[in-house]
Amino acid sequence: MREPPWWQKAVIYEIYPRSFQDSDGDGVGDLAGILRRVDYLSWLGVDAVWICPIYPSPMADFGYDVADYVGIDPLFGTMADFDRLVAALHARGIRLILDFVPNHSSDQHPWFQEARASRDNPRRDWYVWRDPAPDGGPPNNWVSQAGGSAWAFDKASGQYYYHAFLAAQPDLNWRNPDVRAAMYDALRFWLARGVDGFRVDVLWHMIKDARFRDDPLDPNYVEGQPDFRRVQARYSADQPEVLEIAQEMRRVLADYPGDRLLIGEIYLPVERLVAYYGPDLGAVHLPFNFNLMWAPWQPAAIMRFIENYEAVLPPGGWPSWVLGNHDQKRIASRVGPAQARVAMVLLLTLRGTPTLYYGDELGLENVSIPAGRERDPFGIRQPGTGQGRDPVRTPMPWDGTGNCGFTTGEPWLPLGDGHAGRSVEAQKRDPDSMLALTRALLELRRREPALSIGDWAPLAVEGDVLAYARTWGERRVAIALNLESVPKTVIFGEPLAGRIELSTDSKRIRRRISDRLELAGDEGVIIAPEP
Ligand code: GLC
Repeated sequence: MREPPWWQKAVIYEIYPRSFQDSDGDGVGDLAGILRRVDYLSWLGVDAVWICPIYPSPMADFGYDVADYVGIDPLFGTMADFDRLVAALHARGIRLILDFVPNHSSDQHPWFQEARASRDNPRRDWYVWRDPAPDGGPPNNWVSQAGGSAWAFDKASGQYYYHAFLAAQPDLNWRNPDVRAAMYDALRFWLARGVDGFRVDVLWHMIKDARFRDDPLDPNYVEGQPDFRRVQARYSADQPEVLEIAQEMRRVLADYPGDRLLIGEIYLPVERLVAYYGPDLGAVHLPFNFNLMWAPWQPAAIMRFIENYEAVLPPGGWPSWVLGNHDQKRIASRVGPAQARVAMVLLLTLRGTPTLYYGDELGLENVSIPAGRERDPFGIRQPGTGQGRDPVRTPMPWDGTGNCGFTTGEPWLPLGDGHAGRSVEAQKRDPDSMLALTRALLELRRREPALSIGDWAPLAVEGDVLAYARTWGERRVAIALNLESVPKTVIFGEPLAGRIELSTDSKRIRRRISDRLELAGDEGVIIAPEP
């Protein structure tokens, strides 16, 4: 049997570079800062890091507006810093995944500057231009994810250009073969520098309906919800031709040794999501599965969700699990600090590749941002809709010094109250901390192949808990999670010879289990056969 590719066993750690570690006192994290923390990543035990965009950018969307696909923004450092970081990660066996933002560039990208210069500029067709509607308004009803119409009028040339996000992020025209060729060259540039894979930003947006039909209105839209909820994105996203692009990207990666990884950011229900694995699994290796983030925090609902996802996966399609990222509410704020520990056990014991958001290993919650200090344009443009992402992007607390060791300057976003007490340094000293739990889980995953590459099956139990087993060869590992704060008695349908190998409550570790288990409130355990 072929050894599974590295990324099937891997745990990916997402770094929001502005907020991880500053090295030069400007209040914004940078590559030299990440370099300083490589030993931490190695100590924690993650297998790969995904770094959000570090390319030259006017930072209208903090790097998701790229002005040069093959450079490093001076705010983050230099190409030499980048090369040093790759080497340092690789020296510790950690892979590096870059964020690739192909759907749109910055409006300051030279390509767009040329495209907007005139209607007959050779680069015009690199972006999506349309004539105004007969009344002079936007060509159709497509809505920007950042609020308002997705069309911006360019006075000089008398046409509108399309932007699925901010007007400063014009969409590239991926129907144009020259755009594809240029972007694949950018991939090659980074692959040759040793990058192990890419997380492709908003992959499902990359092709739009050729006839630009109006999106149907969403009858469930309620006033006060963000604008993009007004329509169902039937024509503006998730077009079948996107798959072709993913397949082409896969072929680019396949020219390089070492199982380079293609991840797709795709916000779709699992039934649609799985199409992105492609025929013969030839498209995206890991379409990000975000849907667990919206499942009600309740055993039956989560079990139904996992079983359904497992059932719709194509044969051989490898699952992906995510409980948080730089766009979504922190898990500890969604389910509460005690359940965040249980959620960590869940994330790291499901079948598939988990992606862990920086700071979640500390149990960080959303930080409330004082009025006037908001930075995220999505939030500033849509006040009161909960679209602001600053609260989940605050600096990592490292220790008890000023600004928790994040910066010697003024941090670009405030640290949370009490974050010194939750810092890496503080939690390292506490064997019951969230950090200690996360590290123990990662260590157990490495030791116990059942947890990384084993099969998954629900466990028949009495008691309202989430219970499942992971099996690898002869070894069967059971997981039982209490999703509530009241104690639960669990009676297993078949006896389990084993002991508690890990618990959210460290006092319970090593206890023997046969057919009955008393779970404390907010407790999650992993039961394994005696070694
Ligand atoms: C993705 C990113 C998000 C960004 C958007 C536009 O959803 O995760 O942060 O704002 O794409 O690039």
